[in-house]
Amino acid sequence: MNIAIAIDGPAGAGKSTIAKLAAKELSFIYVDTGALYRAIGLCAYKKGIGSKDVPAILDMIKDIKVELAFNDRKEQIVLLNGEDVTAFIRTPEISMYASDVSAIPQVRAFLLDLQRNMAKTNNVIMDGRDIGTVVLPDAKIKIFLTASPEVRAKRRYDELIEKGMDVNYDDVLKDVVTRDYNDSHRDVAPLKPADDSVVVDTSKLDLEQSVAKLISIMKERM
Ligand code: DC
Repeated sequence: MNIAIAIDGPAGAGKSTIAKLAAKELSFIYVDTGALYRAIGLCAYKKGIGSKDVPAILDMIKDIKVELAFNDRKEQIVLLNGEDVTAFIRTPEISMYASDVSAIPQVRAFLLDLQRNMAKTNNVIMDGRDIGTVVLPDAKIKIFLTASPEVRAKRRYDELIEKGMDVNYDDVLKDVVTRDYNDSHRDVAPLKPADDSVVVDTSKLDLEQSVAKLISIMKERM
């Protein structure tokens, strides 16, 4: 029987960085489900479809294929119609597109089996917004990782600057607050801690302390 660890939480809480390191330590596969919503957002963006144009997006997903795979370094890549689009899904525009398309119930349904199948065949640490509540309600361990909006915006800002992107902190903070609102107020699978999750606030923890905290929670419960 495979073990699943669900990590949910708002944008910029450090889920992906922390989960990736914890997965390495435990020899689990790390699955970043946000990349799937981002790939669908990217597809709409490239086709010139508005992020809130629900009929056009529903039409679009009839003909697209989204897949997750792993490269030689065991890093996740996301394929859109067979093309590796991993490098194109992290811009602020695509973040907002991903948040908007993720509010469409049919988009969520479209991605559900793909996510569940990953957990059927592997020991996974899966991160997202609804992993503990909807995708893997029977996950052995559920963690809700959070931090204040200002701390999360600063982390995201540093990350984007390091990638050479031209952004300013206030815009990043505005995006974080808007996405928090969208993600937690949508009707389907809104962002919220599962009843049986452990809530971890990383506002005052650095990366090393956050990873140590998560690994200790995981080992304790496994
Ligand atoms: O984790 P991320 O920032 O890459 O996610 C991008 C968007 O996708 C986010 O705004 C909300 C959505 N998302 C979701 O609704 N459910 C998930 N399991 C993962 C992401």
